[in-house]
Amino acid sequence: MNDLLPDEAERWEAFEEIVRDWLRSYGYRPIRTPIVEPTALFVRGVGEHTDIVEKEMYSFEDRLNGEQLTLRPEGTAPCVRAVTEHNLLFGQPRRLYYSGPMFRHERPQKGRYRQFHQVGVEALGFAGPDVDAEHIIMCARLWDDLGLEDVTLEINSLGDATERAAHRAALIAYLEGHQDKLDEDGKRRLYTNPLRVLDTKNPALQAIVEAAPRLMDYLGEASLAHYEGVTALLREACVPYTLNTRLVRGLDYYNRTVFEWTTTRLGSQATFCAGGRYDSLIEQLGGKSAPACGFAMGMERVMLMWAEGMEAGPLVSPDVYVVHVGEQAGRLALRAAEQLRSAGLAVIYHCGGGNFKSQMKKADASGSAFAVIVGDDEAAAGEVSFKPLRGEGEQRRVPVDLLAPELAAVLYGDDA
Ligand code: HAM
Repeated sequence: MNDLLPDEAERWEAFEEIVRDWLRSYGYRPIRTPIVEPTALFVRGVGEHTDIVEKEMYSFEDRLNGEQLTLRPEGTAPCVRAVTEHNLLFGQPRRLYYSGPMFRHERPQKGRYRQFHQVGVEALGFAGPDVDAEHIIMCARLWDDLGLEDVTLEINSLGDATERAAHRAALIAYLEGHQDKLDEDGKRRLYTNPLRVLDTKNPALQAIVEAAPRLMDYLGEASLAHYEGVTALLREACVPYTLNTRLVRGLDYYNRTVFEWTTTRLGSQATFCAGGRYDSLIEQLGGKSAPACGFAMGMERVMLMWAEGMEAGPLVSPDVYVVHVGEQAGRLALRAAEQLRSAGLAVIYHCGGGNFKSQMKKADASGSAFAVIVGDDEAAAGEVSFKPLRGEGEQRRVPVDLLAPELAAVLYGDDA
């Protein structure tokens, strides 16, 4: 779990602003749900036999009433819970997004943390391939806006429940034939989650995985048409993709479209954004049956890619640093600072005393564009001085009430 110190936290805020504009430009609206949910929501939603539920959740018992609770490991199940609980799907589909901390007890490494942050997008009540494509296309636009390089899109179709059942039976039969060669994870998952066996990173199992029955070959007409529909729109939007027939996700709720954006920029091939369709989840969690799809990006991972090559140091500097020596000067300086803020300027009012020289050093170090300087002789006349700290320009003295319009005109141009 990480602290974000000011330089980094400022970058996060800048990123969050870009992301908010991007989400609005596609018509998505925010939803905020609690960090803590009943454990059963994730067991039922994400799936009993997933890594997340089996070993990664921070779960605890509420001491006061014995309820089983969990720090959310992801945002889709909570979003669906909230939408159902508040009847948001009544008569209309919804385009929603959320962002915030998620918790998984994983082994930490670069880009993998126990508290991490996701921006998640969910479109609920949409059945067609157009919205799956919208999600992928909007991702491509964001990577473009952020100037991310070396990103790859992998896509697959997981079909529907009957298609998966037929494939699963064939897969189990196939894996049983190779049981002696499977590792411990493989043996454990053989009957509980055989698709995940295909997701193994173990090089010794790659040959077995390569030759395993492909889910793609078990898809019926409707699932194939959906897949074709998504990929046709991607081609139309010039978003390159690779079909990865072995792409399975670590969460159980998906059907049909699944996709992952990966990069080599974070060490080994790493997924920084992923999602897909989950047409049964809403009903499974007690809502009225409705199709849906969505995705989430790991903010730490995107930030690592985005911040690459950015200079260290503050992103935003104040406009003005107000220095003042003397009691009367301090009072007038405070008034001047508030007037400047009313005019929309960012102002640091010097606190902690000291002579002009030491205060001017701090003004310079703050990165401010201007220093406003007030001494008792100026204060007695109701005037203040200002001086540009970067570039050319003389120190000038003006009546205090003229300071804000003067500085705003210099900083924002004459039409301010
Ligand atoms: P997920 O693949 O489990 O999907 O997580 C999405 C993204 O969150 C990952 O691609 C990764 O970038 C980031 N992430 C996951 N775990 C960590 C970690 N320990 N540290 C840092 N980043 C991490 C979901 O969570 C689904 N709810 C996505 C979704 C939304 N599907 C449909 N709608």
